Amino acid sequence: MRGSEPLRALVRETRLDPAKFILPLFVCPGEGVKREIGAMPDNYQMSIDQIVKECAEVERLGVGGVILFGLPETKDESASGAYDDQGIVQRALRAIKAETRKLLVLTDVCNCEYTSHGHCGFVKDGDVDNDITLQWLARTALSHARAGADIVAPSDMMDGRVAAIRQALDANGFEKTPVLSYAAKFASVFYGPFREAAESAPQFGDRRSYQMDPANAREAMREIELDLEEGADMIMVKPAMPYLDLIAKARERFDVPISAYQVSGEYSMIVAAARNGWLDYDRAMMESLTSIARAGAEIILTYFAKPAAKLLA
Ligand code: PBG
Repeated sequence: MRGSEPLRALVRETRLDPAKFILPLFVCPGEGVKREIGAMPDNYQMSIDQIVKECAEVERLGVGGVILFGLPETKDESASGAYDDQGIVQRALRAIKAETRKLLVLTDVCNCEYTSHGHCGFVKDGDVDNDITLQWLARTALSHARAGADIVAPSDMMDGRVAAIRQALDANGFEKTPVLSYAAKFASVFYGPFREAAESAPQFGDRRSYQMDPANAREAMREIELDLEEGADMIMVKPAMPYLDLIAKARERFDVPISAYQVSGEYSMIVAAARNGWLDYDRAMMESLTSIARAGAEIILTYFAKPAAKLLA
């Protein structure tokens, strides 16, 4: 059955669809800014005018959506830039929505890009305070929904944040805004390049007191279950390739849309190897995405969304 391409196509079990890709984008202050991120070639910090152009192209390529990360003008102890209705993500959202028709615009709901210390929440006695952080997250999600977010995606890993966000949305007329929860998010070295892109590296300590231990599979299922009980509409496993077993497990256990985030380090490893002539770029990209889809992720957040969509066209 492998004798020819038509035969292989006939029996192929997994197909990639650009409509199921979400491209992460980084929006920064200024005008006409398009700054390449050193550790993530072909990815940029972009000002709102540039990101609007980028989104129009992403839409033309048939990519399902984008997820926005913001680089605020200033950071402070209380992450005020995250839930400011005039914040960078909120302004970008309104601008993108005005210029696109069907592109889904998701927002990452977190505080680490907005706090002066780079942690994902309110820091008390050297550690993140879960319950105070919930209030920030609910305000941020609501503010994103008001600005036009199609889906809000909390990535902070605080306990109870899906319920807090759901409640804030429902109480304010956004009962139709779905929550995609980064349910099983691991404390991973593969976020390294992203922290340069989002300027969000913690200034002290690390995120191991709130992100998951890479050794734990059962706990990941428990985290997903809790988020679904709290009202999450879709869940995510992150990173993707080192956690394919968990994508597959989650697919078997939960009948909700499952997404996986092929994170910055996964992307950069492939690009670096390709630039060295050690791997074929196109094939490595497509094989990595296919493996994530085969494991059971229907939705893939990936920095390869544009080149992969072009290849699939
Ligand atoms: C915010 C957030 C991170 C990523 C997505 N949302 C960074 C982190 O948790 O440190 C990582 C994405 C990537 O590496 O591409 N908390």
